[in-house]
Amino acid sequence: MFTNLKILSMIFCIALAATAGYAQETAMNQTFAQDIHSFSNPQQTRVTHVDLDWDVLFDQKILRGTATLTVERNPPITERLGTLILDTRDLKIEKVETSTSGNNFSAAQFKLGAADKILGAPLTITMPSGTKFVRVYYSTSPNASGLQWMTPEQTAGKKSPYMFSQAQAIHSRSFIPIQDSPGVRVTYSAHVRTPKGLLAVMSAEGNEQNNSARGGDYRFRMTHAIPPYLIAISVGDLQFKSLGKRTGVYTEPAMLDKAAYELADTEKMVEAAEKLFGAYRWGRYDLLVLPPSFPFGGMENPMLTFATPTILAGDRSLVSLVAHELAHSWSGNLVTNATWSDFWLNEGTTTYIERRILEELYGKPRRDMETVLGRGVLTGNLAEFEDRDEILHVDLKGRDPDDGMTEVPYEKGSLLWRHLEESVGRAKFDKFLRGYFDSHAFQSITTETFVNYLQKNLIDQNPQVSRADVDEWIYKPGLPKNVPVVQSEAFARIETLAQEFANGKRAAKDIQTSVWTTQEWLRFLNSLPQDLGAAKMSELDKAFNLTTRGNSEIAFQWLLMSIKNNYSPADARLEEFLTSIGRRKFVRPLYAELVKTSQGAARAKAIYTKARPGYHPITQATVDQILK
Ligand code: BES
Ligand code: ZN
Repeated sequence: MFTNLKILSMIFCIALAATAGYAQETAMNQTFAQDIHSFSNPQQTRVTHVDLDWDVLFDQKILRGTATLTVERNPPITERLGTLILDTRDLKIEKVETSTSGNNFSAAQFKLGAADKILGAPLTITMPSGTKFVRVYYSTSPNASGLQWMTPEQTAGKKSPYMFSQAQAIHSRSFIPIQDSPGVRVTYSAHVRTPKGLLAVMSAEGNEQNNSARGGDYRFRMTHAIPPYLIAISVGDLQFKSLGKRTGVYTEPAMLDKAAYELADTEKMVEAAEKLFGAYRWGRYDLLVLPPSFPFGGMENPMLTFATPTILAGDRSLVSLVAHELAHSWSGNLVTNATWSDFWLNEGTTTYIERRILEELYGKPRRDMETVLGRGVLTGNLAEFEDRDEILHVDLKGRDPDDGMTEVPYEKGSLLWRHLEESVGRAKFDKFLRGYFDSHAFQSITTETFVNYLQKNLIDQNPQVSRADVDEWIYKPGLPKNVPVVQSEAFARIETLAQEFANGKRAAKDIQTSVWTTQEWLRFLNSLPQDLGAAKMSELDKAFNLTTRGNSEIAFQWLLMSIKNNYSPADARLEEFLTSIGRRKFVRPLYAELVKTSQGAARAKAIYTKARPGYHPITQATVDQILK
């Protein structure tokens, strides 16, 4: 009788999981790419679903609760005892339990291994035969690398605390004990309790309902299998504004109208992307505009892109970031890099698609401008890097995968895609790309799998593309000879003006800039000689008020030039910029430039003393390195 009941309840559980709508998109008995950045053992035992139950404790700056993992043994149960190895970083593990039914849990043996500086510590759990569920009771550290906790004073509204996660590349292990490899896909659900009045949002379904209820008790579910680096949460005084039928924005009340204005084209971007690459498969597409300490420009958390407020320029000129994060809904979230050495598959493809979306909405000249700007920063990187860091399929042995986040995977990767497009023609190429997404949907793939697919579906049919050529792009440093030539007519005019100004042939006041876009301003500034001199800097500033510009990209370029040219009227603005913005792309080069002189280094240290408490752990670690 008892056994019958047990079997019945097991069947019921399985049926429940099925009716709850979690898609079994990854095949059983699959093989997993060897991931040097994870201790986990998906080949023996893999996690398929994560159920989170968290209290968000602002006073202690921790998440406390449980992660209940659904596990599958592969090949199905041979020995009596199984082993599950999870990744963790700075987690406090209270106890671990296992269950065969999901109802009754019993204590399990576990061992937290020694912590590696980059990878964290393996959590090895012994599972009795028949184990289907593993529950870990734990809390995070106040210094979790994947979370930022902010006091009310550090927010725009000054009244409520705020927290947000950033899991890519290997930080989800600092808030979830999990098989933290992009090759191991999981569905997830979550039950989150927050202080009254605050809203929790996640990269999942549930945000709309929770926003209506606002009771401090929130539920979420992600029914598609995603890599762990896409699990995301934020809690704060968040408000919502709709942008379109399936798009909207969450942010603090003080920024809501500004954000909604800036992001008005979001729905159109989704439509354009669908037209090019097939259906958007995730339901809603919302954005969360974070406080300025968010360490990145954007993060493609599914259904809910996280974005820096530094894109709120007031004129919608920096929305390429939205096109980029949205593009990841195909390249990255649907088809995912299996390891961090395959990161270019995520970012190169996305950068290519981002610019195709921009072309759809704003025309070809805009695509070309963005491509030329990207090419400029890539050229800068290539001039500095060792060969091994110029290779798309990058070797990350012994390194933090965050170190692989250079312009190479983005810009060199996107140039490869553009090269393929130009080689076979757009019609054929778009068909290939759509087929690529459809045939690998909800899968994690390696560069090798990609190249084999490319061979069968593009190279074999098109003699103008060769395998040797593709291999050179992917496995060799630098840029191949056949790199696409990108030009922008608008930029050609700007470059001439910049030269004339630098040569003294044209005064700043004789440059007609009233109709320049942000991209043209950026091109103008980065076409000027690096050693322009303080006098010419001053002339530009008087004519165009560059020191007081609010546009973050223009301000960043100008401040970098100001340091290089010892232009002291920008000193106060530099300090204000560095103490109010924590976006790593801006902060890192500014400090790095400052420390090149002893006077600058002293200034950098003084500014950093004030700025550091407001920076995210990732930005702190980066600047600590520069100033050490
Ligand atoms: N997925 C990245 C952000 C990322 C990469 C975070 C690696 C952590 C590790 C995101 O899609 C991205 O590329 N963001 C860019 C902006 C984009 C417009 C190029 C950024 O944050 O600068
Ligand atoms: Zn990206």
